[in-house]
Amino acid sequence: MPTMRSIVILISGRGSNMEAIVRAAQAEHWPVSIAAVISNRTDSAGLEFARRHGIATAIVANKDYPTREQFDTALRAAIDVFAPDLVVLAGFMRILTTPFVEHYAGRMLNIHPSLLPSFPGLATHRQALAAGVRLHGATVHFVTPDLDHGPIVAQVAVPVLDSDSEETLAGRVLDQEHLIYPRAVRWFVEGKLSLDGNRVRLDPSAEQV
Ligand code: GRF
Repeated sequence: MPTMRSIVILISGRGSNMEAIVRAAQAEHWPVSIAAVISNRTDSAGLEFARRHGIATAIVANKDYPTREQFDTALRAAIDVFAPDLVVLAGFMRILTTPFVEHYAGRMLNIHPSLLPSFPGLATHRQALAAGVRLHGATVHFVTPDLDHGPIVAQVAVPVLDSDSEETLAGRVLDQEHLIYPRAVRWFVEGKLSLDGNRVRLDPSAEQV
């Protein structure tokens, strides 16, 4: 029997990456318990999907906390109730404090909609169109205190078309996010992915997924 791992997924809104992970975990019978989906907003559409799938949900609303530190302390407490092996940031739109990030060192992943290190931060599709790049994409990385700069686990490239608007480009990137993020999370729960200092260690068998 493979070791069962547990994960907590953090969202802020739509939650389509969370949904892709939940669906892949179920369809592919990953050795995982999706312990909870937590949002920093009360109106996240993704919470409803999680509830319908019998996953525990929690809301830690950042607007209820006067400082970033207080919010992160409350969020950490809400996550650690579930003692997860991995925390998955899936469209979680908050800058996290260094103590919070360090608490989850080597066990927190994020997906960013660009080919990092290009275009960290917000409005990545607009940034890519303005820069005139021919390739854009998405990156799964371990989270470090340096925003959108952690060790890279997986990347996918998407061509930029002359006809692209922010919306069409974002849509094609999102389709690819829904493929690479479940794959990366699966590697972690199967024990094939880890962080060794700043180096990502990926078991050779992981490539065959
Ligand atoms: C995704 O493009 C993700 O990469 C970015 O925000 C978007 C969230 O979408 N950080 P969803 O909530 O997963 O649907």
